[in-house]
Amino acid sequence: MEKLKFIKPTKEYEQQAYDYIQEFKDYNSDIFGTGGLHKYIGQYDEWLERLEQDRVLVPTEEKVPQETFFLIRESDNKLLGISNIRLALNDALLQRSGHIGYAIRPTERRKGYNNYQLYCDLKFCKEKGIEKVLLACYKDNVGSAKTILNNGGVLENEIIDPENGKPFQRFWIDVDQALEIGKEKYEEKSTA
Ligand SMILES: CC(C)(COP(=O)(O)OP(=O)(O)OC[C@H]1O[C@@H](n2cnc3c(N)ncnc32)[C@H](O)[C@@H]1OP(=O)(O)O)[C@@H](O)C(=O)NCCC(=O)NCCS
Repeated sequence: MEKLKFIKPTKEYEQQAYDYIQEFKDYNSDIFGTGGLHKYIGQYDEWLERLEQDRVLVPTEEKVPQETFFLIRESDNKLLGISNIRLALNDALLQRSGHIGYAIRPTERRKGYNNYQLYCDLKFCKEKGIEKVLLACYKDNVGSAKTILNNGGVLENEIIDPENGKPFQRFWIDVDQALEIGKEKYEEKSTA
């Protein structure tokens, strides 16, 4: 796999960020893990400012501190994926969405990029002192479930989403164990 960078969003990627969101719309793909970017089209500076505020939020039932990252392919500087890491869990996150949301742009899927993106997310969690990470995905989201299992996820339970009747699964990852698994596979790829 090519060399990849896991970085905080910067002004340099403004147009690419818009193109990234547009690609999800073109492919009618679910948008997850963007840190709200899809609501800030044409307002990138405001989005970057909001990310700064998000980092230092005091956790409440409404909002928790969070960080958003870009996954970039070095060879062509292309934005491949975005992930969003919640640094604390409130009750809603504990029951439903967990610590991390992520996506890879539709035209770059099935190349192993999300396996690596989640590994980078977990490294960041480690830096922040988070030892156990909760992830959740719909049962039929095989790509997401496999990403989680590949990074050491252990299924806790399966719950029906009351909003649409679809089953989703909650997994816990022991961060130290996952980083051990991932070190050999991924470490040489990182320049972050
Ligand atoms: C889920 C998603 C992030 C996976 O990204 P990706 O870059 O294609 O994932 P990877 O290529 O790293 O694959 C991860 C694993 O899942 C498998 N996989 C990926 N997509 C799959 C699919 N559609 N069907 C079956 N397996 C799939 C891969 O084979 C790989 O397993 P392996 O390494 O054991 O072979 C991507 O499909 C996406 O962005 N979906 C829309 C947003 C979303 O659903 N986010 C998650 C919300 S919980």
